[in-house]
Amino acid sequence: MNILLLGSGGREHALAWAIAQNPKCDRLIAAPGNAGIAALADCVDLDIEDPATVAAYAAHNGIDFVVIGPEAPLAAGVADALRARDILTFGPSAAAAQLEASKTFTKQICDACGAPTASYAHFTDAAAAKAYVLAQGAPIVIKADGLAAGKGVTVAMDVQTALAALEDLFTGGDDAEVVIEAFLQGEEASFFVLCDGTDILPIGTAQDHKRAFDGDTGPNTGGMGAYSPAPIMTPEVTQKALDQIVRPTLAEMAARGTPYQGVLYVGLMIDDGQPRLVEYNVRFGDPECQVLMLRLGAQALDALLACARGTLAETTLNWAPDHALTVVLAAKGYPGPYAKGTEIRGADHAANDPLVQIFHAGTKNEGPRLLANGGRVLNVTARGDTLAEARARVYSAVARIDWGDAQFRTDIGWRALKSDSD
Ligand code: AMP
Ligand code: GLY
Repeated sequence: MNILLLGSGGREHALAWAIAQNPKCDRLIAAPGNAGIAALADCVDLDIEDPATVAAYAAHNGIDFVVIGPEAPLAAGVADALRARDILTFGPSAAAAQLEASKTFTKQICDACGAPTASYAHFTDAAAAKAYVLAQGAPIVIKADGLAAGKGVTVAMDVQTALAALEDLFTGGDDAEVVIEAFLQGEEASFFVLCDGTDILPIGTAQDHKRAFDGDTGPNTGGMGAYSPAPIMTPEVTQKALDQIVRPTLAEMAARGTPYQGVLYVGLMIDDGQPRLVEYNVRFGDPECQVLMLRLGAQALDALLACARGTLAETTLNWAPDHALTVVLAAKGYPGPYAKGTEIRGADHAANDPLVQIFHAGTKNEGPRLLANGGRVLNVTARGDTLAEARARVYSAVARIDWGDAQFRTDIGWRALKSDSD
């Protein structure tokens, strides 16, 4: 079959790597792709956030299956436009993508279906929001929603920080929408579940490292490294997450006439064996996808196809009892300002161990040279019988990459490795 993959990050390189290995894939086309994806796929330049453009391209180029990587095309309705032309598509409708696009929507779904999550209140008025913070006290969590979404999340350990975050959000204009949540204690994990509108298939657990620097310090980033599986996701916690959070949410979405079809990224906080929902995303995590794909390989395509076709009930995954870990090499300065165009040498050589894969994120080819072209640039990823073995493989590959502008964490996996030795 001819497969079109949308996106250009490390997540999409990992998806391309798994998809291209499956004999069902005759031709892989990526839009827009990156230098790593270009070795596996034909890259085309398309406006992937424009539903009509993507649907017309797929219809006119004999595309049998479209895999949508990032959230922006999903929220824009690209999956809807493709399905309207009867093109098999992996990814939820724009209506179902509200689970990521709107924090208020997700909270309302949780209220309706009883999924455990932090208690919350929604505000469009600064004075009322500040009064609420003063009444609740700290720690407390302030989240921008709606038009202010770019401004993100503040986990405020004291009232002053919470009030300052509100000040900042409400100075943006009259349209600010803010969700204020109770602070959840515990350890975070990401749980990925394929949903075909009726049935589900869990497709792995992972833990991300969101802070820029070692010891979970520094600013929040898109993610600096991940490993899979997440030891905190014991069979009991996984069962609770499915029974109390995932299944009720999917039933509520279906009852509203907007069934969820795609991968549901369930961001959990686990405290004393009880999972609570922190957030949903409507796509694979980046870099969590890299560790999941390395562990799954070619069968990932069969699972994505079953998800799109509605045949997950007949699908199983064969998991090796192994571990995978990925370290993100970012450009110095990320997530703040950073340079583009610096040269990376030795990436091919570093990946010559069959248990190591280097997934590209912000890279481009210029003649024979590989250049950095973004904030997060490479994902050095490896498998091992143990997490410690996977990690040793990753860091020895990192040491073989010659890129003077790299910034990366040296402690990815610390939490799981610490609990191993407890
Ligand atoms: P979100 O964008 O909702 O995923 O929030 C980003 C990050 O903020 C999460 O990954 C958590 O680390 C943290 N966070 C969000 N909500 C809460 C909460 N209610 N309690 C504690 N930490 C939170
Ligand atoms: N790694 C976090 C995310 O993909 O949202």
